[in-house]
Amino acid sequence: MSSITLYGPFTQLLTMEGLPLHGPISDAQLPVSEHQGVLVEDGIVAETGDFESLAKSYPEAKQPLDGNENLVALPGFVDCHTHICWGGTRVNDYAMRVAGKSYLEIAAAGGGISDSVNGTREASEVELIEGILERADQHLRRGITTIEVKSGYGLSLDAELKMLRCIKKANEQTPANLIPTFLGAHIKPKDFKGSHREYLDFLIREVVPVVQQEGLAKRADIFVEEGAFGLEESREYVLKMRALGFEMTMHVDQFHPGGSKMAVEVGSVSADHLEFCDEEGINAFSNSETVAVALPGASLGLGMKFTPARQILDQNGCLAIATDWNPGSAPMGDLITQASILGASEKLSIAETLAGITTRAARAIRIEAGTITKGKKATLTIFETDDFRNIFYHQGQLRPTHTIIEDVLIKHE
Ligand code: NIG
Ligand code: FE
Repeated sequence: MSSITLYGPFTQLLTMEGLPLHGPISDAQLPVSEHQGVLVEDGIVAETGDFESLAKSYPEAKQPLDGNENLVALPGFVDCHTHICWGGTRVNDYAMRVAGKSYLEIAAAGGGISDSVNGTREASEVELIEGILERADQHLRRGITTIEVKSGYGLSLDAELKMLRCIKKANEQTPANLIPTFLGAHIKPKDFKGSHREYLDFLIREVVPVVQQEGLAKRADIFVEEGAFGLEESREYVLKMRALGFEMTMHVDQFHPGGSKMAVEVGSVSADHLEFCDEEGINAFSNSETVAVALPGASLGLGMKFTPARQILDQNGCLAIATDWNPGSAPMGDLITQASILGASEKLSIAETLAGITTRAARAIRIEAGTITKGKKATLTIFETDDFRNIFYHQGQLRPTHTIIEDVLIKHE
């Protein structure tokens, strides 16, 4: 028997349909309609439109929302860059950082990513899965329904596979949609005896075949940076991985420029970080298929400058915004807070910020999400307010009352 549910009435409904993928967006371009309902049949959006008319046409539909409040509905938000699978803590890094040490100095002193590699290798599967589920749950409470999750704290055959298997198992246990990404090329681990190129070859020779056999990830990532991987070896890795059928994304320009231009040249689906993206990099995003992903959580976590989001949009780039949630550079994980702070700092319109965590974020991970569209899977984030602009105005303090994913309705306390 099919289940039919009518959600609403919504004072404002923003389907996020029909927005441009590239360049600036004004708030006037947002598709805002009033007194709306969303009809969901077996988890799929069957119709949107005037609430009363839908209620009359579908008298059998359940109506689980209380119609007394002002409610605004948007699609579930998309966090297109996270590292929410980890073991251990990096509070020592934090203490060193606020005492004045740089990210690269802390890494050189034995902190940084290597510390999380130790913690993650030591963690049991149960602990890793619990960690992912707890963080996914926090995201659901903030209206995020799609979460990209990277490996990259294992950096050995067994530990990378453990991470990816845990992400897969967690995905089966949360209503959120987890999108796995293989980040074996995060850094060369300390216990690998060989060059950076040899480590990348090891990944391709020994780890990637199992990742593919078990269907653990279709996407892969590499960290291009001093202390991680150089431009040329990264380029070669990306091209080889693409030939093996992976969609590639890259961490670039976090501390030094140069990677973003290369990411565009090699057809990376996204280029993420970009705090040090220079003019050449910014221009490379113009009308490019490569989505530029700003990670304000890493700027806030490290006390560094923001990605030049305004300039990327003005050059007709496609800009997404994600949390980079991880134990080191970005421990906060609050997408709305971070997106609104980036918006205030970079002078992004509300429409640009919203697109950055819906349609453009979905584009960064090449999935269908981030809109409320007839015939597509239903995801809704519902706020008790009469004006959607309050979501960013309150900089993350206005929390959704409900999150809906297909047939699952989550009511928040
Ligand atoms: O996106 N920059 C590289 N990787 C992560 C940081 C991971 C960490 O510090 O543990 C990032 O910021
Ligand atoms: Fe990251």
